[in-house]
Amino acid sequence: MLSKKMTAAFNGQVAAELYSSYLYISMSAWLQSEGFPGAANWMGLQAREEVYHAQKLYNHILERGGQVKLGAIEAPPFKWKTPLEVFEQAYAHEQKVTGLINNLMSMAKAESDHASEIFLQWFVTEQVEEEATALDVVQKFKLAAGGAGFFMIDQELGARVLSQIVKDALTGTVASSN
Ligand code: FEO
Repeated sequence: MLSKKMTAAFNGQVAAELYSSYLYISMSAWLQSEGFPGAANWMGLQAREEVYHAQKLYNHILERGGQVKLGAIEAPPFKWKTPLEVFEQAYAHEQKVTGLINNLMSMAKAESDHASEIFLQWFVTEQVEEEATALDVVQKFKLAAGGAGFFMIDQELGARVLSQIVKDALTGTVASSN
């Protein structure tokens, strides 16, 4: 069974993942309105992945006998200057999330909560990918330096599709998606 402290920390992480989704939806809307439908697609899919992350955490709380207690989610920003700035902020946000996951892992270790440690390993690996993919787009936009280069990158980002595992999880019920 999850301790009260770990339950509260996991509930906090559910809110953090849902905030990530909220932030990326906001970024997606701005990108769409500024004429970058490909980048908007990329960010919209990222937002859905964040819901998947929240679901995984939610399931872990329930499976371990904890109480899901959803907290408030703050309003995200809604305006940026360039697509590069959007992705720079997304990259910085992912670094923050990595820190939160690392804190959770440290708490699990301190409590000898081995089940949570094993569960969190997936998130540790996922964060390496999350940071790498955001940084990859930042670097692409930096190299393009605006204009036609931005347009080409936007087309490339438009090709992103949701992975089957995330698609399956999001179309199933919340409780059964792992
Ligand atoms: Fe759920 Fe992008 O980390």
